[in-house]
Amino acid sequence: MSAQFPVVRPRRLRRAPALRRMVAETRLDPADLVLPMFVKEGVGEPQPVPSMPGVFQHTRDSLRKAAHEAAEAGVGGLILFGVPAVKDGVGSAADDPDGIVQLALRDLASDLGSGPDAATVVMTDLCLDEYTDHGHCGILTPAGEIDNDATLERYASIAVAQAEAGAAVVGPSGMMDGQVAAIRTALDGAGHADVAILAYSVKYASAYYGPFREAAECAPRFGDRSTHQQDPANAEESIREVLLDIDEGADMVMVKPAGAYLDIVRRVRDTVRVPVAAYQVSGEYAMVEAAAERGWIDRDRTIMESLTSIRRAGADMILTYWATEAARRLA
Ligand code: PBG
Repeated sequence: MSAQFPVVRPRRLRRAPALRRMVAETRLDPADLVLPMFVKEGVGEPQPVPSMPGVFQHTRDSLRKAAHEAAEAGVGGLILFGVPAVKDGVGSAADDPDGIVQLALRDLASDLGSGPDAATVVMTDLCLDEYTDHGHCGILTPAGEIDNDATLERYASIAVAQAEAGAAVVGPSGMMDGQVAAIRTALDGAGHADVAILAYSVKYASAYYGPFREAAECAPRFGDRSTHQQDPANAEESIREVLLDIDEGADMVMVKPAGAYLDIVRRVRDTVRVPVAAYQVSGEYAMVEAAAERGWIDRDRTIMESLTSIRRAGADMILTYWATEAARRLA
């Protein structure tokens, strides 16, 4: 009896690649991908990061080359992390005009153009953990606690140093209260009203940052980051954080990590009216690379599926260590 057979057949739209492509709800575009890059002071050769195969601590020269390749592949932006040769209690190298990130920014401005002529968006991570000898994201009180408000003054100064060196966007990642307002005021006061802020508004105290701490040489010497980063158990708190940052002047907000927090990406996307970024962090990268190396997972498909899922969850931009490779594959 023909009545037992389905009239409605969702499979009709899945059978042919051209049909699947036409009805796809989510598309990845190289312009939405941002490549995080590490640049290390005082090394003659790029240093491979063992826990992140394919990722390097760049020299100034190898950074220029990799940035050029990313721009050529159509990657939307780059975000720079510096690894200084000398660290101290207040992270002096972070706002030194000749600090490693500031030098790299000038290199990239001359290679890739700046302002309206820029070939890609050059951004900076704005934090202290890579620059302090204790590895914390702020400066410490004598009792060894992070001094929120004294740290804001440091962030303000770093923002200005990065802007003067050519950063188009600064990305405060330290989760200090009031950091966006402090940075916005400092930038405007120094004549950098055009420099945008990508706020790491939602940043969880996550085990997925493990490999990054090797890449950026910033593991805390004592304690952890749970006094300022969020509890993975909380979601409402993330909405509070993004709304606060937007009030303080954030132009774009970020959720980090991405993969284990897709519900948060979706909630944030549904709540705010600014662009939302998601950071596919070092641990997400390392897990796929490690499983692929053992032949346990199809590396390329997993990469593209993970990026599509982050986009589908609502991220407008994705920070990913696979940005150049994924952009080439999409071309
Ligand atoms: C802090 C910062 C971290 C990451 C980006 N910015 C580390 C941390 O908070 O411990 C992690 C990125 C990654 O894991 O890929 N400057």
